[in-house]
Amino acid sequence: MAEATARAPGKLILFGEHAVVYGQPALAVPLTSLQATATVRSSTAGHGIVIEAEDLGLRVALAKAAETGLAKTVELVLARFRMPEPDAVISVHSTIPVASGLGSGAAVSAALAQALATYLGQRLGAATLSALVFEVEKVHHGTPSGIDNTVICYSKPVFFVRDLEPETFRPAAPFDLVVADTGVASPTRVSVGAVREGWERDPQTYEAIFKEIGSITRSARTAIESGDVTALGPLMNRNHSLLQRLDVSSPELDRLVGAALAAGALGAKLSGGGRGGNMIALSTRDSVPHITTALETAGAVRVMHTVVS
Ligand code: PMV
Repeated sequence: MAEATARAPGKLILFGEHAVVYGQPALAVPLTSLQATATVRSSTAGHGIVIEAEDLGLRVALAKAAETGLAKTVELVLARFRMPEPDAVISVHSTIPVASGLGSGAAVSAALAQALATYLGQRLGAATLSALVFEVEKVHHGTPSGIDNTVICYSKPVFFVRDLEPETFRPAAPFDLVVADTGVASPTRVSVGAVREGWERDPQTYEAIFKEIGSITRSARTAIESGDVTALGPLMNRNHSLLQRLDVSSPELDRLVGAALAAGALGAKLSGGGRGGNMIALSTRDSVPHITTALETAGAVRVMHTVVS
């Protein structure tokens, strides 16, 4: 094939971040308004693979990109199909902000892996693609739970427990979320590392918090599957306060959560690794504009509306 393109969505964790690393369930949904795109085009013979990522100001030969997630993705795809390095230019583009809890690393890797597989005349199924992206996630995050690669590669809402087959689920009624970015870049590795240190210092307290987050996540799944949207608000608020106790919130996140609630959100919490990145607020359809304005006034650098359905 002379050219192949693939896309992958961003993601939002609704409940259970951090506790999921310790075996508790988490709920996450794809965020299709943001996407990573990869295109593979054949190039001059003898040049091997060149990777271009305009957004990151990057243009490098594969050999020089060693240790990056992009190179690792390419290596894993070639190894899987036992193919030699083709002569090709791979262009990667993403509208998902980096280090903001929206799954940018996993989405770029998923789009790249699928585009290269297609270029090679192959196809990666969701489970295989997810396992491959998980290997790449380890380069970025150290001890990822696997939720990012799973929700992004299946592109469906998932109820995820580490080391178990992911379960996809369907909301009985759609609901509206307003997503606001603090503008503070916060690598997941750092917040995951901080939680690990806290857990090593005081395992009993941390285990109890993880367990309570797990039970909130299970209740949230029941509420979503039965269309009881209003029950989700208090569960989000409780989940956020437990994340504060894990010390992964931040003044910026707390300010946005407070502003959303004051503007009439039914519930609000940080989403993803925390310490920066994004928060989510549950809203009725009518309140979306008002909550959006309140979040912008409170300092959000980007606010989006998304419907989970
Ligand atoms: O990559 P983020 O910021 O969406 O965070 C991933 C969620 C964590 O639970 C914090 C880490 C993990 O690997 O599950």
